[in-house]
Amino acid sequence: MKNTKNFHASWSSRWTFILAAAGSAVGLGNIWKFPYIAGENGGGAFVIVYILCIVIIALPIMVAEVTLGRMGKKSPVNTIRDLIQSSDAHKSFNIIGWMGVSAGLLILSYYAVIAGWALSYIEHMISGTFHNINAENAGLIFDNLLKNKNELIFWQSLFMLMTVIVVIFGINKGLGLAAQILMPLLFILLIGLLIFGYQQGDLAKAFSFLFGFNFESLSWKAVLVALGHAFFTLSIGMGAMMTYGVYMPADSRVFSNVLMVGILDTLVALIAGLVIFSIVFVNPSIESSAGPGLMFVSLPVAFGNMLGGLIFGTIFFVLVTLAAWSSSISLIEPAIAYLIESRKCTRLMASLALGFIAWIIGLGSVFSFNIWAEEKIAGFNFFELIDFITANIMLPLSGLLVAILIGWKIKSKMVEDQLLSDSPRLFFAWKWAIKFVSPLAVIVVLVMGIYPRLV
Ligand code: TRP
Repeated sequence: MKNTKNFHASWSSRWTFILAAAGSAVGLGNIWKFPYIAGENGGGAFVIVYILCIVIIALPIMVAEVTLGRMGKKSPVNTIRDLIQSSDAHKSFNIIGWMGVSAGLLILSYYAVIAGWALSYIEHMISGTFHNINAENAGLIFDNLLKNKNELIFWQSLFMLMTVIVVIFGINKGLGLAAQILMPLLFILLIGLLIFGYQQGDLAKAFSFLFGFNFESLSWKAVLVALGHAFFTLSIGMGAMMTYGVYMPADSRVFSNVLMVGILDTLVALIAGLVIFSIVFVNPSIESSAGPGLMFVSLPVAFGNMLGGLIFGTIFFVLVTLAAWSSSISLIEPAIAYLIESRKCTRLMASLALGFIAWIIGLGSVFSFNIWAEEKIAGFNFFELIDFITANIMLPLSGLLVAILIGWKIKSKMVEDQLLSDSPRLFFAWKWAIKFVSPLAVIVVLVMGIYPRLV
């Protein structure tokens, strides 16, 4: 027994964090959101800016968040409060915790709606609706789903219930593990789809669309969306990674673990993008800028027209649901942890109450696809507004504050204790990024992206 103990401990120290963090990071953001925002923003240049944002802004901030969690060892709200006290930072940094909790609930509100679409597509796959389908009819089926608010509410409620049940029983570990065993399967299926895209679609065009340089079409708004998505897809800017940092054993290597999560997450998004656009470009009735429905119109065409496609399609949407599920629990868990920690609330009560709040707000997103489709604020419908405010404003803003807090306020000695021994060279590169590059880049992008909307 004794001989194996050491081996096991070192295995879990590295993988517990990577599996949990990747479970949170890989979700609808990769498979559903990335392809459609890349399409809306013209591809190429957008994707390059997105990858740059990941490398020079998001990854350093992810290291920062994980490190804050390791130092504070509590829910984000209280971790931040403790660290502010011990470093004499201004009280206003407390907003990091609060903004995180609210951003999580707001994101969850529409996340459940979209995950609901995936649930309903499992049913469609099983019942054979997509057999031999063409792009026009796939579009019609999707439009009909959006028009039917009762059906949307049914699936949204089911997904919210699934999320709440997991956080009530605290079986994150079980789900996390299950999802991580199944996630490689999702990866393999995506590769299989890529082969389909190569044979039946236009993979070359998809490739040049996603990786070509067409910087003329790049607006500051697109840069802001790319930045926001870098935060969204890595689950940073709301304390989720802080929470996972708490679970990270003291001796593990933050840099390489974070890098691993970043690489996995980016690969899934890029492959999903290639698959979807190779199908889009051979079906003229699907626009690359089709918006949130992009994946739900293009993939049924692929599955409906390949051998054994309905079986693969069923498995695919089950896996997408699982990926969304392991992400959604990380959107609500920090808020629950906080309620339990400081408000003397039971886990059951906290989960039900917060799930209910997110569900109610989510109804607004449901309606924005039908009865409220024409209700706009600043050009956004309800779903777009919540998405814009959370992903493109709240997450980067809280990331900015995290960078300033750890780069300028917290005692260097404390930070060095956490990270220096990991790799001195990476540490100094990171330190430079977190003090100067990340904050400045976030400020420039936020100002340039939002300013034109105000004047
Ligand atoms: N990263 C997840 C995705 O790509 C979504 C997500 C989970 C998230 N937890 C988060 C986004 C925390 C921002 C903050 O689907």
